[in-house]
Amino acid sequence: MITTAKRLDIIEEYYFSSKLREVRQLASEGKPIINMGIGSPDLKPSQAVIDAVVLAMQDENAHQYQSYQGLPELRQGMADFYQNNFQVALNPASEILPLMGSKEGIMHISLAFLNEEDQVLIPNPGYPTYTSVTNLVGAVPVFYDLKENNNWEPDFEALEKLDLSKVKIMWIGYPHMPTGASGSLELFSRLVAFAKKHNILLVNDNPYSFVLNDNPMSLLQVEGAKDVALELNSLSKTFNMAGWRVGMVLGNAACIDAVLKVKSNMDSGMFYGIQKGAIEALKSEKSWFESMNAIYRKRRILTEQLAEKLGCKVYKEGVGLFVWAKLPDGITSAENFINDILYDKSIFITPGTIFGSNGEGYIRFALCVNEEKVQEAILRITN
Ligand SMILES: Cc1ncc(COP(=O)(O)O)c(C=O)c1O
Repeated sequence: MITTAKRLDIIEEYYFSSKLREVRQLASEGKPIINMGIGSPDLKPSQAVIDAVVLAMQDENAHQYQSYQGLPELRQGMADFYQNNFQVALNPASEILPLMGSKEGIMHISLAFLNEEDQVLIPNPGYPTYTSVTNLVGAVPVFYDLKENNNWEPDFEALEKLDLSKVKIMWIGYPHMPTGASGSLELFSRLVAFAKKHNILLVNDNPYSFVLNDNPMSLLQVEGAKDVALELNSLSKTFNMAGWRVGMVLGNAACIDAVLKVKSNMDSGMFYGIQKGAIEALKSEKSWFESMNAIYRKRRILTEQLAEKLGCKVYKEGVGLFVWAKLPDGITSAENFINDILYDKSIFITPGTIFGSNGEGYIRFALCVNEEKVQEAILRITN
């Protein structure tokens, strides 16, 4: 038997990778599964985006390796997107790097900045990839609490009490996944000040700004943020392009350069047609966001009803692609709760525990199923 690397001993297969295998198996056995687990938009990108990629196939250089930094027009498109939506000015030559998905960016950033034994501040609850990537590169996760009674924001007093001498990176993500907490510019300002004080690279993971959110924000709006911060963004949720794998990292030029050093040794550029489609998506007018949000708004209302039928209490202030809900009193295991619903009602919901120990007692519904299916789920729970 060939032994695997030690780094595999401290991580597990990604929850959705294994759980969705089980869900697919149930579906193949004929169970009428309604999958409200993963945040993979079911809606299509705009027709202009699809046309752009089809047209690009005929371009002369379409099938060759592409630039490690992406097409200049793509970087310009990302700069314009940030200028128009967040009033943040970025130099497309030095402060923006297109990525093949922002999930991959978490690995690139970690490889660029972390040595073994360096520590990383990770939100609990938070996106599980921050922890697994930290472990994969041999660094040490240090979890900081996000609690409902503090609106799922960090407790700065508690943070200041930690020994921060070995902390190199702090992951944040507002709008927050899984809870939907929106954060605020004031919070971002405090976080930038904290990062500066302790010489920590602050990274905001920001894929949900444009879903059911009246006030899209960027960490880079804070004055001086570029001194210590990077932001990840993604076309996955904003433009229904999750499978295309297009993201970006923006901010401090020296940090972007370090990320490019890693990334250019890992991939050989993003497919030309995908870049052309992404350029088109980034040009979308406000009406694109409004039309998507009109659909998500109706789904959210129904999904809240479903959660309430299950006896859960919805976090109403939540923005983004998910509904986050507290389990009824007396229920001690979110995983048992969702498994019972999966096996009895063929509805798959994500247990809060996969996002960290503070997710115990909560569940997360993705708004990626159509209204008819949510109504069907409500009926199944009622009957
Ligand atoms: C908080 C968060 N960050 C990053 C990602 C990854 O997005 P992408 O498709 O750009 O890799 C996700 C996807 O679900 C997410 O929820």
